[in-house]
Amino acid sequence: MLLEQTVSKHYANKDLLEKIYTGLGQLGIDKDQLTQSDLSSVDEFHIGGSEGTLMLAEKLSISASSSVLDIGCGIGGPARLLSSEIGCKVSGIDLTADFVNTGNSLTDQVGLSDNVKLIEANALNIPFADNSFDVSYMIHVGMNIADKDTLFSEAFRVTKPSGVFGIYDVMLVRNCELQYPLPWAVEKDGSAIASVADYKSALIKAGFSLRHEDDKTHFANGFFEKMSVNISSSKGLPPVGPHLLMGDLGKQKIRNMAQLIKSGIIAPKILILGK
Ligand SMILES: C[S@@+](CC[C@H](N)C(=O)[O-])C[C@H]1O[C@@H](n2cnc3c(N)ncnc32)[C@H](O)[C@@H]1O
Repeated sequence: MLLEQTVSKHYANKDLLEKIYTGLGQLGIDKDQLTQSDLSSVDEFHIGGSEGTLMLAEKLSISASSSVLDIGCGIGGPARLLSSEIGCKVSGIDLTADFVNTGNSLTDQVGLSDNVKLIEANALNIPFADNSFDVSYMIHVGMNIADKDTLFSEAFRVTKPSGVFGIYDVMLVRNCELQYPLPWAVEKDGSAIASVADYKSALIKAGFSLRHEDDKTHFANGFFEKMSVNISSSKGLPPVGPHLLMGDLGKQKIRNMAQLIKSGIIAPKILILGK
């Protein structure tokens, strides 16, 4: 099976919108009064949630007039957050149809559809013209894409010459067998996790220059410590949370990722590139 097919199957989540509305209802949130911040516990599918998104955005100098591309946007949490905080227009692309459809419904529901649009597309063939965006970024996506040369040459092509590209991904630090399932793959064959050295060589080959690099291990350990209170609580999981995106193995996926980060085998890293 092609990696793209394995990835789409991994994230497929047919009744996701319904599950989110049911969970919100249990919290007393009426879907007809929904705000962007009501969604923050479920619509940011990466370490640190909205704090992680803002941590990356801070390095990207986004303004209200920026045109922004989110590559592998999931259900659009980061795109809606940046648009509502900064006022910019954000286009998102993602391989998983269920995520794109759920994301567009949520965007409509919170009144952001003039500024945020998600479309189903492959990051290896981005359906936008050359030099379309001031800022492009991807958050926790590269672990699903083996062909990093094509991925970064596509990101380079659609980013304006004066633009910036940001990456916030989980990368391999020590070369050893990983414990699956992980949030991005249930088995090794769905994973394309790579080292920071592999990222950098593909980025330089695509034409980017490195402006900034940061390791977010400490931030991640703190995030997982807070989360483990929820995971091991006798009350069980809250009605709305990232587990809605991760299916039945959600707890195990989070535990394995947290352990691998704590052991220094993998690490979340930020790379900021100029064109
Ligand atoms: C862990 S989720 C992160 C979602 C989102 N960036 C966020 O932080 O909320 C990874 C996402 O990457 C998407 N993805 C993986 N491979 C892709 C590809 N080749 N093209 C577009 N999207 C892809 C998946 O469908 C999934 O939505």
